[in-house]
Amino acid sequence: YLPSSKEMLLNAQKYGYAVPAFNIHNLETIQVVLEAANDLKSPVILAATPSTVKYAGESYLLTIIEKANEINNVPVTFHLDHHENVEDIKRIITIGCRSVMIDASKYEFKENVAIVKDVVDFAHRYGATVEAELGKLGGREDDIIVDEKNSFLTDPKEAVEFVKMTGVDSLAVAIGTAHGLYKSEPKLDFERLEEIRGLLDVPLVLHGASGVPTEAVQKAINLGICKVNIATELKIPFSNAIKEYFKEHPDASDPREYLVPAKRAMYDVVVEKIKMCNSENKA
Ligand code: 13P
Ligand code: ZN
Ligand code: NA
Repeated sequence: YLPSSKEMLLNAQKYGYAVPAFNIHNLETIQVVLEAANDLKSPVILAATPSTVKYAGESYLLTIIEKANEINNVPVTFHLDHHENVEDIKRIITIGCRSVMIDASKYEFKENVAIVKDVVDFAHRYGATVEAELGKLGGREDDIIVDEKNSFLTDPKEAVEFVKMTGVDSLAVAIGTAHGLYKSEPKLDFERLEEIRGLLDVPLVLHGASGVPTEAVQKAINLGICKVNIATELKIPFSNAIKEYFKEHPDASDPREYLVPAKRAMYDVVVEKIKMCNSENKA
């Protein structure tokens, strides 16, 4: 089975950088992230949402990433991202996954606590680490769509209660980021982040990093964020490069050709994000 993300996140917390968590979808996107991670000697988290697990197949994903972990010289963790189905999470832990996010942020506090605690108790028996979310991010990730008016920021005092009651290993905080791109530049609530950091010991996670200016993410890292989730900003250059390729080669049909520029374009963004997280040379 794979390593949990415990040591990775605690190291990041100790040395003041963040581990980038890149959402992957298939062999090619896994290859790109690992190539960049190896080139820059960065620890990385390969994150899979429920649709990715469904699309790629849990055993294929685990097998590929276990092999990747064996042949790479950097710490690699496979992480279930935004999973809402407790039974799915438990099953995937039993077949080897050691890092999961249970997203019960759509429920009210008590219900969120109960669901997360159940997953934590199960996961810890296997040495797996659990991330949960308190507050609610706007935007769209997979089938989870949250209107701006229904999103809300993490309450620092509730966060303390939440961590105490659930025993969760890391906490995703809502401080003004959203999934996907932004209509206008997002305003992050750094004071809130500072207050949460001052009250809590667990590693804090920033979701929705695509579209957030580098300086803002770095400021959040300096204030205690130790995992940064990036999805949309990888998908766009990957697919744009394929569109470009077919414009120039309308008769192309070989994936080993049309996926090459896609991988190159995604590689550049992964490198940029590793540098943003300051996780270069931390492997
Ligand atoms: P972005 O698509 O905004 O990068 O969000 C990624 C994320 O939070 C995955 O969980
Ligand atoms: Zn997210
Ligand atoms: Na975003």
